[in-house]
Amino acid sequence: MKFVERLARNYLRKRGYSISECGAEDHDGDYRLVRYSSYDQYVSVQTEGNKRKINQVWADEATIDVICDYIRKTIPDAKRGLCHGSRNGTEVRWFSERLGIDVMGTDISDTASQFGLTQWDFHNENPAWEKAFDFVYTNSHDHAHDPKKAFTTWVGQLAAGGKLFIEHSVGHAPAAVSTLDPFGIDPKLLPYAVLGFGDGKFAVTDVLKPDHKKAGGPIWVFVIERVQAN
Ligand SMILES: C[S@@+](CC[C@H](N)C(=O)[O-])C[C@H]1O[C@@H](n2cnc3c(N)ncnc32)[C@H](O)[C@@H]1O
Repeated sequence: MKFVERLARNYLRKRGYSISECGAEDHDGDYRLVRYSSYDQYVSVQTEGNKRKINQVWADEATIDVICDYIRKTIPDAKRGLCHGSRNGTEVRWFSERLGIDVMGTDISDTASQFGLTQWDFHNENPAWEKAFDFVYTNSHDHAHDPKKAFTTWVGQLAAGGKLFIEHSVGHAPAAVSTLDPFGIDPKLLPYAVLGFGDGKFAVTDVLKPDHKKAGGPIWVFVIERVQAN
């Protein structure tokens, strides 16, 4: 049965639909969230997934181009960027080359340093990174076991006028949730959930829609900013 469900979901996902499993045990209000038995289990699942897919790249240059154009227009003096969950560092390099600025990246896996990344759990605050970046980018928010904590930490890393870019696709929807990708949310609900994550202190202020598709569906790049001093 699970096989048939997965087949049907994948078939529909490739055609731009997503189905969520309403009422499932791990369905947490507006979004779906897998609960791990321990933090060690989370780290080990993520590290195993990272190593298995170490040569793959989910980010794509056309989307990074759209974000870089937006950064040039809206943060013309940008000097530092941070990418979370960067696996082999490809998007870090793309941002840095295009913008000509210092961009660093994190990954939870012990492979991080091989790619010039900092081994770091993106949920955790780092005093050296507080209010230090003109932009923060991730397409790995579906790997957050505690999205409220992760989004709050990322916004806390923005310098004044800085922006958080969340690249979202049908591959980040509730139907795509798994032990490796514990957080899934419908793109239409994401802005609403973000307001809740920030208790109103940050919000989605813009949405970029690249023309091309990914995983058989559209791409939404949510732009998130602080909406009041905190
Ligand atoms: C889907 S991959 C995306 C990789 C890369 N951004 C890309 O576009 O190819 C998710 C990555 O996030 C990393 N990751 C998962 N949980 C993390 C966490 N809590 N903190 C930092 N990195 C994490 C994984 O190890 C993995 O390399």
